[in-house]
Amino acid sequence: MQPIGPLMHEHRLIERLLHLVEREVREVEAGSRPDSAFLDQAVDFFRSYADRCHHGKEEDILFRELAKKPLSADEKRVLDELVDEHVQGRALVRAIFEANHAVARCENAAPAETLLPLLRKLCAFYPVHIAKEDKHFFFPVMRHFSRVEMDAMLKEFEEFDRQLVHEKYAAVVNDREAALKA
Ligand SMILES: [Fe+2]
Ligand SMILES: [Fe+2]
Repeated sequence: MQPIGPLMHEHRLIERLLHLVEREVREVEAGSRPDSAFLDQAVDFFRSYADRCHHGKEEDILFRELAKKPLSADEKRVLDELVDEHVQGRALVRAIFEANHAVARCENAAPAETLLPLLRKLCAFYPVHIAKEDKHFFFPVMRHFSRVEMDAMLKEFEEFDRQLVHEKYAAVVNDREAALKA
């Protein structure tokens, strides 16, 4: 297996979540109140899975190793674009988190008007990012790696994933303890 195998597999779950967000957009467009509990779960999915787990393996392992290779000018340009898109994705998810909480607190007189464009943007933005990786970047750049290098990356991916659940819940305890001391 190549290191892009697990990453492409993760793209499929991100797409499934995006389809659920699209469905939520249609419900709100039809007049339903936004489902704040689901949108909170979607935000957690994008933060913990799409960003920390998935983009984490891309940036901290695959892209780090690619940066050591003699990439073509086009490959280097796309790599920079992908990293920039991860930054944009984080900002968008943060805006959705805030808009969703404003809706839940009923602070916004027309909550859907704030939230809907952000959700639509997320559903338009991520599939383009995923397609860029799946169809235009991942396969060609694998030529830079030997079998040994690919296996080392796959092993590092496993260790990266293994740490995540511990990292996530240690942060829950640390953050709460810090808040109580403040
Ligand atoms: Fe990515
Ligand atoms: Fe990706």
